[in-house]
Amino acid sequence: MSPAEKTTDFIVRRPDDWHLHLRDGEMLKAVLPHSSAHFGRAIIMPNLVPPVVTVANAKAYRARILAAMPAGHSFEPLMTLYLTESTDPADVKAGVKSGLIKALKLYPAGATTNSDSGVRNIEAIYPVLEKMAEVDVPLLVHGEVTDADIDIFDREAVFIERVLSPIRERFADLRIVMEHVTTEDGVDFVKGAGARTAATITTHHLIINRNAILVGGIKPHYYCLPVAKREKHRLALRAAATSGHARFFLGTDSAPHAKSAKECACGCAGVFNAANTVNCLAHVFEQEGALDKLEAFMSLNGPAFYGLPANEERIRLFKGDAPLVLDDKITAGGDDVVIFDPGFPLFWRYETANA
Ligand code: NCD
Ligand code: ZN
Repeated sequence: MSPAEKTTDFIVRRPDDWHLHLRDGEMLKAVLPHSSAHFGRAIIMPNLVPPVVTVANAKAYRARILAAMPAGHSFEPLMTLYLTESTDPADVKAGVKSGLIKALKLYPAGATTNSDSGVRNIEAIYPVLEKMAEVDVPLLVHGEVTDADIDIFDREAVFIERVLSPIRERFADLRIVMEHVTTEDGVDFVKGAGARTAATITTHHLIINRNAILVGGIKPHYYCLPVAKREKHRLALRAAATSGHARFFLGTDSAPHAKSAKECACGCAGVFNAANTVNCLAHVFEQEGALDKLEAFMSLNGPAFYGLPANEERIRLFKGDAPLVLDDKITAGGDDVVIFDPGFPLFWRYETANA
């Protein structure tokens, strides 16, 4: 056994979440505390209805998030804009210069939840990408094509070939994050694409493969986009996350939907994992004998890529003898939202620590 495998108590910097859906209204109020209790900062996804497309929209959304924050929590929402074919490069520049806008999100039209206003013709946004490279703000991509003839399990690999590689080549200075990478192809692309390309990895894609969704009955709470792939891809994600590689970091993609909107004939895509992500990650990293790499993945690599300082606060992670008893759902405005079930008992817990 390596020393890392025997560790049962250690201190790391407070983590950040580099891909989070907080929604709005009652849902925002219900889910925000589950992120703000654990994370220092989060990149806030802009796919509201209607989406966050202008700096003015982002400013107003940030104010609503801060107004919903529980007393005593310190959490910084890092705002993003939803790229459309009519995004104004001048607005982007002003938003970035003011410090409000930390990234822009590219959704291919129709790729996922609330992506109807997304981009259909990628060349239409080239002027914005040029401006983004100039002001050095990262492009976050939902990396799936939406062509009806492409199998859903191949959509990430085809996106890399048809869309991401050409953007990478054309805009050499642009920082790009491949969001929620789910394939070995994606991991290989990011590794080979140089210092200005990174990827976020979700908690659930480190834990489930596609069998979790389909074997023994359909399990809608494991359905998200990009959909979980076959086992070899999960193993590639685990290897990337636990390797300490500087260009892979945590983006939970915690994406709450009412239970009734998931358990129905056409269930929504999204897994709500903000409440137990840190516990799950400690379990995964221990299984891989890589607890010594957990801080890089959830607290160091993300801020380094974004050019921000790591959090100063620390948390202490420690392993209990008995499994944690956690709720399996939260309530949001009269609806239940089911919390991600990793399928194994969780022994790791944590508390705020003084370094
Ligand atoms: C996200 C959502 O619900 O907003 N769903 C998901 O399955 N991940 C959208 C997204 O990030 O694709
Ligand atoms: Zn997402």
